[in-house]
Amino acid sequence: MTKFPIEKLKAIQTPFYWYDMDVLRATLLKISENEQKYSGYKVHYAVKANANTVLLEEIRKAGLGVDCVSGNEVRCAVENGFDPAKVVFAGVGKSDWEIEYALEAGISCFNVESVPEMQVINEIAASKGKKACIALRVNPNIDAHTHHYITTGLEENKFGIGMWELDSVIDSLPSLANLELIGLHFHIGSQILDTDPFQELCNRINGLQDQLEKKNVQLKTINVGGGWGIDYEDPDGNPVPDFDSYFATFNKYLSLRPGQELHFELGRSVVAQCGSLITKVLYVKEGQKKKFAIVDAGMNDLIRPALYEAYHKIENLTSDKPAEKYDVVGPVCESSDCFGKDRELAGTSRGDLIAMRSAGAYGEIMAMRYNLRDIAKSYYSE
Ligand code: LLP
Repeated sequence: MTKFPIEKLKAIQTPFYWYDMDVLRATLLKISENEQKYSGYKVHYAVKANANTVLLEEIRKAGLGVDCVSGNEVRCAVENGFDPAKVVFAGVGKSDWEIEYALEAGISCFNVESVPEMQVINEIAASKGKKACIALRVNPNIDAHTHHYITTGLEENKFGIGMWELDSVIDSLPSLANLELIGLHFHIGSQILDTDPFQELCNRINGLQDQLEKKNVQLKTINVGGGWGIDYEDPDGNPVPDFDSYFATFNKYLSLRPGQELHFELGRSVVAQCGSLITKVLYVKEGQKKKFAIVDAGMNDLIRPALYEAYHKIENLTSDKPAEKYDVVGPVCESSDCFGKDRELAGTSRGDLIAMRSAGAYGEIMAMRYNLRDIAKSYYSE
């Protein structure tokens, strides 16, 4: 459970991100336990969720690999000491320089999202006299029942190769001499709290493996992406996501072939609960219908509420007055710069410290300088 050392926090210039390293360590421990429990399971951290180097160090020490979606993410993984042999690289629009860089760095696998991309990777690998290991990202057409902005595994999404074209893509591989097919890759969406979509994914993969075996295609890896959700409502009740149920679902429903590895790309579930955005109340403005708590953090610091109407629990860390309802809003000149409407907070006054919880994933990394605001700094528990 996250601890807030109030006196220490009061001395820091707001807004800032606060990371509870014990929560991160407890999360990583649970992941490692599961990784060791099942043979061939390998977890990559989806660095898009948060590339903070202090967190990366902890994640690297726990033995995770990295899932990247840009050349700079690959560079970040390498520079932060991750073994390139544990790095995978996905993304629908890989630039030539990104492919070249990843090939030179010696990453383990390109998760390929289209036929033209496959051809370009083949050409670039040939020009360097290298062979690129690839996994085909298959769009499994599964509805993850999550926010439509973060669902990715449906036919209508831009991601992956359609199941309908898989056979012909595989048939074209022998003509691409500088590629080696090592696996299939999937990712159905994010913030998925129910194991049913993953069970459905397992069934789909079992069917595809049968289909490919008829063509004598043997795969070294199956990569099921990320997407496991966290409890935004109750970060203290559930600081560590229920990884046991998540991994057990794959163990139960997926028929891995002998010696096959199962890869995961978890982002949010690794880092979300350890981070909070800490902000100070500037003004309490009494409207005719409601009260506004105007804080010094804005949508530029944490864009999820404005972009996805995402819920983050909001707490007043320094008041013990009776609760009242507030709209908690930032200073940015946009009506969508609102962290929560009609939120119950302990009676709030100027100078109080407010925590936006579960902000460790897709918080700091998505920050921007709109209104020329500064990028919030980060601080850590021991
Ligand atoms: N693998 C692939 C191919 C992905 O596209 C993603 C996330 C992940 C793994 C990691 O998914 P996770 O375990 O974090 O759910 N900014 C949004 C989330 C976007 C997720 C994009 N892809 C948000 O703040 O909710």
